[in-house]
Amino acid sequence: MPNKVPFVNYPRQYRQLKQEFDGVFEEVMSGGDFILRSHLEAFEKNIAAFVGTRHAIGVNTGTDALYLSAHALGFGSGDEVITVAHTFASTVGAIVQCGAIPVLIDVRDDFNIDVGQIEAAITPKTKGIIPVHLNGHACEMDKIMQISKKYGLKVIEDAAQALGASFKGRRCGSFGDTAIFSFYPAKMLGTAGDGGMVCTNDDRLARKLRAFRDNGRVENVEVIECFGWCTRLDNLHAALLDMKFCYFDKWVERRREIARMYDDGLAGIESLMPHPNSNGDYFDVYQNYVIRCKERADLVAHLRKSGVEVLISWATPLHKQKALGLSHFNLPMTECISAEVVSLPIYPELTDEEVEFVIDAVKKFFI
Ligand SMILES: Cc1ncc(COP(=O)(O)O)c(C=O)c1O
Repeated sequence: MPNKVPFVNYPRQYRQLKQEFDGVFEEVMSGGDFILRSHLEAFEKNIAAFVGTRHAIGVNTGTDALYLSAHALGFGSGDEVITVAHTFASTVGAIVQCGAIPVLIDVRDDFNIDVGQIEAAITPKTKGIIPVHLNGHACEMDKIMQISKKYGLKVIEDAAQALGASFKGRRCGSFGDTAIFSFYPAKMLGTAGDGGMVCTNDDRLARKLRAFRDNGRVENVEVIECFGWCTRLDNLHAALLDMKFCYFDKWVERRREIARMYDDGLAGIESLMPHPNSNGDYFDVYQNYVIRCKERADLVAHLRKSGVEVLISWATPLHKQKALGLSHFNLPMTECISAEVVSLPIYPELTDEEVEFVIDAVKKFFI
């Protein structure tokens, strides 16, 4: 039996796939293929085919994928964009950085945007919606796309945590005008550093995004089509990610298996709200396995003492972060969730013994 379980374990994955990792490094280094080269093109093609979009454009973070999307869609001064506060800072940062105004609405108990509140938040200034598929669980994209059509709004799907997840048979990332993914190390598909991707079906937007990521250049490096940024997904990262992508389906299955073990092992603990389960409309990929507990501080202290490393995402919702100037929003469900959530370790390399160890540690707190 293990005596501790870390929240992530990157070295274990490296040891398991050492030959593949080392082979990729040797191939890229010996070819000198670093910027916008064939490994990136191949990886972009594979992600586009997997997600179900015409284009996938590799950039250097999920954050930049959001920022570039917001700019490409023309969000700007005075425009309002609807999203949630129970998300990573850059979802809202993308709105603010292009001069637009974030309009934050509440989430439901599955941690995702409360679709029933969207229409009431729409004004003549509303330009877009950024639904966030949190924890590898899709938002209700059919309703969101219906609303966006009715009011002529643009949609950026924040799928940073949802590569592989789907809703009513369609993959997250294939619904919106653009969608973004993150390849941060702990994500569903993580690189050895930072990485991100924008997906879109719109040829014109795709060209704009390609220009934005490489200082305005697309095919001919002599022609600057617009002012842009320098935010390309490095070819080395793309090569690592493309190698890892071969294992992706297997890894998703393992995450789902671990989630079932947690569901079964933690069932029946009265003061614990287990990770919300979905109906058949959803295919969840469990980027995170999140439980809710009213005595969170004590539970977390107990788990850490027992050797179980956990994460809280996020204890302070964005509208309660003093520096951000968003305190005028009233989001009771978001605040309730932020006070209770705890993410348990979940990654494909976890052994069954480690999962049992975590379950035992949680159970002991409630005995
Ligand atoms: C929901 C969400 N959006 C955006 C991001 C930003 O991605 P990155 O860390 O690659 O910039 C993250 C990553 O933490 C995220 O979880």
